[in-house]
Amino acid sequence: MNIHTYERLWIVGAMVLIVGFIATITYGSVGLGITMIDDEEETLAPDEIGEDERFADPRVEQVGEDEYAAYVVAQTFVFQPDPIEIPADSEVTFYVTSRDVIHSFTVVGTNTNTMVIPGEVATMTVEFDEPGEYGVICNEYCGAGHHDMEGELTVVEAEEFDLTDLAVDAPDEVEPGEEVELTATVENGLLEEVETTLTVEIGEETIEEEVVVEGGTSEEITTSVDADDLGEGDHDWTVEVDDESDGGTVTVGTDDGGDES
Ligand code: CUA
Repeated sequence: MNIHTYERLWIVGAMVLIVGFIATITYGSVGLGITMIDDEEETLAPDEIGEDERFADPRVEQVGEDEYAAYVVAQTFVFQPDPIEIPADSEVTFYVTSRDVIHSFTVVGTNTNTMVIPGEVATMTVEFDEPGEYGVICNEYCGAGHHDMEGELTVVEAEEFDLTDLAVDAPDEVEPGEEVELTATVENGLLEEVETTLTVEIGEETIEEEVVVEGGTSEEITTSVDADDLGEGDHDWTVEVDDESDGGTVTVGTDDGGDES
């Protein structure tokens, strides 16, 4: 078959264009690593966030050497946790979900930016090399408080970073002659074990306990003081470990100020 030279040129030109278009689209959707929220991630019902082991307690967790996972919940009009604290020179994978309406999770000054859709978990991995403070904002209109919806991401020096958490269980009132028992739960979110000192102050007494908490676990430490040593009345207590502290007041004897019996 005889095809005219000009016609042949046009056919070849059109073919090159078509192949070029396909290549461009393929590169744009696959090659650049831009991902859309898809239906491969497991979904979760927004009203079941409280029972979901990833999001019930929004937090940062160590998952490998210099690798962390941050579980973030967005809701009108806050981000949890706030601030999000991570160490420098680390790689952080954010898992973000929404408790109510569509928000965004946008770390100002970085290219970390995702829509947060109720029922979906947006995932992205980011490296942070230098210590610094970043604002976290929402840039999807989500209601009356949208413009106030902001949080903070703090990148701290690796040496200053810890994931120690403290919770204290203490009585409000004890009878004279009994013991005042303070139970501290020290949680270690790092993979390595942590050796630290727990300081309990109550009344005039100071008790120090050395604590070793294995990575990813928690330890309960109970200290007790004789109520008679404290004497009747109100006594303030504080418990400290690393940067964490908790405090309260315990009353020895009755609080109502009288012997009505
Ligand atoms: Cu959340 Cu706007």
